[in-house]
Amino acid sequence: TDAVAFTGANQAGIVTPAQDRLHFVAFDVITKDRERLIKLLRDWTAAAARMTAGRDAGTIGAVNGIPEAPPDDTGEAIGLPPSGLTITVGFGPTLFRDAAGKDRFGLAAHLPQALEPLPKFTGDTIDDTISGGDIAIQACANDPQVAVHAIRNLARIGMGAVSVRWSQLGFGRTSSTTTGQATPRNLFGFKDGTRNLKAEETDLLREHLWVQAGDGPDWLTGGSYLVTRKIRMLIETWDRSPLAEQEMIIGRTKGTGAPMGMTGEFDEVDFDSVGADGQPLLATTSHVRLAHPHTNNNARMLRRGYNYVDGSDGLGRLNAGLFFIAYQRDPRKAFIPVQRSLAANDEMNEYVRHVSTGIFACPPGITGTDDFWGSALF
Ligand code: HEM
Repeated sequence: TDAVAFTGANQAGIVTPAQDRLHFVAFDVITKDRERLIKLLRDWTAAAARMTAGRDAGTIGAVNGIPEAPPDDTGEAIGLPPSGLTITVGFGPTLFRDAAGKDRFGLAAHLPQALEPLPKFTGDTIDDTISGGDIAIQACANDPQVAVHAIRNLARIGMGAVSVRWSQLGFGRTSSTTTGQATPRNLFGFKDGTRNLKAEETDLLREHLWVQAGDGPDWLTGGSYLVTRKIRMLIETWDRSPLAEQEMIIGRTKGTGAPMGMTGEFDEVDFDSVGADGQPLLATTSHVRLAHPHTNNNARMLRRGYNYVDGSDGLGRLNAGLFFIAYQRDPRKAFIPVQRSLAANDEMNEYVRHVSTGIFACPPGITGTDDFWGSALF
């Protein structure tokens, strides 16, 4: 129920202990006016600072204004505590240059080299209408009403300057981002987030999470790259597969989450041991082997995904899966090589479909009341 600090060297909502609920939105910027964009980012930052402190989005409030005007807060969070709300912003490649290569807001010179649309991976079934976007906002909170209230009010404030391209609700965090949190489970029923980067591992965060001075461009120092993938899970097919096969596919046991051949959840993954049948205990096609830093030139990322269920699909199947979120210092050294390795060989591919993709550069944290998201860009 407590408030999470909005200001800091890095944006909140990345190493913040993963909250239970997500509302993620991607906007298209529809104004052509650079000053209007700057004003929007200022207004958004101010509203986010208020809402994360448990206050109304606007300075007047939901019920204190004149009766003739629409309120500057929508009201559904009246009386609710801050609920750990964090609001995290990222800029997509299309904010800097449109598809035709045109510099939209005088920002093209600031486009980070690593901020390329993700490549197409083997097996991708991406729906462009729920992918990409110029600006992404991740709202996480321990109360879904608080997360939805935040996104709703930011969209309201952006009216005329941005339009919502797509959005996604999520529940039941599928990762732990601190050592103090118990590891939650994803919709396959497995613990997820065991070998994640954790907030306490500051050396590793410097090496793998935060953009460092000299990485380029300067405005992004202290920021991070955000990758989103909506991954539908073929739940009914998975539920018909035997326990041993499920465990073989993941590379961990379903009960404790211990790596194959080991006993404790946090035991090191054993790549080498061989079973009585002469096969490695950790299957060569298992998710954990293929995603592990050993297999990927020491690639690490901070995963922060959420389960989703968007009802059912009309064929009696759950329209459900994992809204995968990962933060990293350089996607070319983290998400992209790991996903290539998974796309090529992961036995899990039979049970999942990647339906949406996104990449965003998240600026560093807000330093004080005069600062705003992306201020160093303008
Ligand atoms: C580990 C599930 C997609 C990267 C794991 C684990 C599970 C899991 C159960 C073991 C627990 C852990 O260490 O966190 C899933 C499911 C996915 C999915 C159900 C899709 C629906 C992805 C994707 C990536 C990825 C798309 C990145 C390209 C990783 C990494 C690890 C991991 C880096 C840790 C490997 C290690 O260091 O041992 N995943 N995952 N996962 N996954 Fe996934």
